[in-house]
Amino acid sequence: MPTEPLRLQTARLVLRELRLDDWREARALDTDPEIVRYQSNDVLDEAGTKKYLEGSIKAALELPRTIFDLAITLRGDDRYLGRAGFKIDRPDHREAAVWFQLRRDHWGQGYAAEALRAVLELAFEGAGMHRVYGDCDPRNLHSARLMEKAGMIREAHLRENWWLKGEWCSSFIYAVLEDEWRALKSTSEINTAPRMKHPPTSSADVGTPSPITSAKSNANTGSSE
Ligand SMILES: CC(C)(COP(=O)(O)OP(=O)(O)OC[C@H]1O[C@@H](n2cnc3c(N)ncnc32)[C@H](O)[C@@H]1OP(=O)(O)O)[C@@H](O)C(=O)NCCC(=O)NCCS
Repeated sequence: MPTEPLRLQTARLVLRELRLDDWREARALDTDPEIVRYQSNDVLDEAGTKKYLEGSIKAALELPRTIFDLAITLRGDDRYLGRAGFKIDRPDHREAAVWFQLRRDHWGQGYAAEALRAVLELAFEGAGMHRVYGDCDPRNLHSARLMEKAGMIREAHLRENWWLKGEWCSSFIYAVLEDEWRALKSTSEINTAPRMKHPPTSSADVGTPSPITSAKSNANTGSSE
């Protein structure tokens, strides 16, 4: 697996590796209760934001790489607008979990959908995944709609499977398989494959099992908080 930084380019976006100096822009998300409302983590203080970035940057350097947590930026503007990525949590089964978040003043423009498609393309064609899944709270309509738009299929409604922020929360599980992804890509709806520099090479490189993570989880902890 190459150790060079990843950079995915889509029609309007560049997804790049996280950097420590993203912390200032990341505060716009990490302090927004609306962003973390249905996620396992709560709003973060400045130290929490920095710790998160440090963890993700460190994870990106591990070999074999299992965590791909990328900054969403606009083409021509390197500013951090959010994150999208995946974690290979069952390498023997070529399965990964995706996540995504975008700062609120950039919602409703299709950026998150574009970023998710880029991440799915990397997971299937770069990292050799067979199945990619995400979960979201059924009340998180933006997230459910986003995964549906990317071609993910709702497979399950898990009832009250998380205790978060003082209440039981349920999960929709969405997933897409590699054959389905390739079929979807040939349609105009999904056909925005990113141009990848230095993608990971093959499923043989994907590494050892790591704790399950999900769209509800922090990428570099893989756990609910
Ligand atoms: C989930 C999240 C990333 C979705 O962001 P979003 O901006 O609503 O998602 P999209 O980028 O797909 O944009 C959606 C809308 O943009 C509109 N849009 C505007 N211009 C567009 C364009 N050029 N192309 C595509 N869509 C466009 C579409 O109409 C679309 O609405 P639709 O869903 O009715 O079709 C965002 O709500 C978020 O960050 N939430 C908090 C974090 C979170 O919950 N993450 C998931 C944890 S499970």
